[in-house]
Amino acid sequence: MNYIGSKLSLLNFIESGIKSCVGSDLSNYSFCDGFAGTGVVGAHFKQQTKQIIANDNEYYSFILNKNLICNNFDIRELIPTIEYIENFDIREGKIYKYYAAGGGNNRLYFTDYNAIKIDTYRQAIESIKKDIGEQKFFLLTSIIIRTSR
Ligand SMILES: C[S@@+](CC[C@H](N)C(=O)[O-])C[C@H]1O[C@@H](n2cnc3c(N)ncnc32)[C@H](O)[C@@H]1O
Repeated sequence: MNYIGSKLSLLNFIESGIKSCVGSDLSNYSFCDGFAGTGVVGAHFKQQTKQIIANDNEYYSFILNKNLICNNFDIRELIPTIEYIENFDIREGKIYKYYAAGGGNNRLYFTDYNAIKIDTYRQAIESIKKDIGEQKFFLLTSIIIRTSR
């Protein structure tokens, strides 16, 4: 995710700093990502450590980390859900109202088209969230990442 403050470009530096302290085998260590943000640091260490503990006080980060750290399902399982979302009736919502010109609040962050698309996908996910379990974190992460480029 494109985010000022992301440690994506520092992953090798962080890893070599940790390994110079505790050695190169991290398999018996837990990794605590105290300000997890985008989740890229925890995700980087996921394969090498015993467990990841991710903490952040923002809900965006909870979503990204639930997806990056916890989700392990086969992505092909999502095909029917994605078809449902793609065919959901187009509807305006908060993104259109508050972040696009057409919403009447003098905002130009998204084009009207993209804002309505985000609103539609968001509401489609909301309508089935009880049925799709942890997969909703994958879908919400997809919206966050695609709309923050
Ligand atoms: C620089 S960013 C994230 C860096 C992260 N390592 C990454 O690569 O994306 C810092 C994060 O710290 C979180 N944060 C700030 N103060 C916090 C606090 N008191 N408790 C928990 N999280 C906090 C913010 O919500 C933000 O997501």
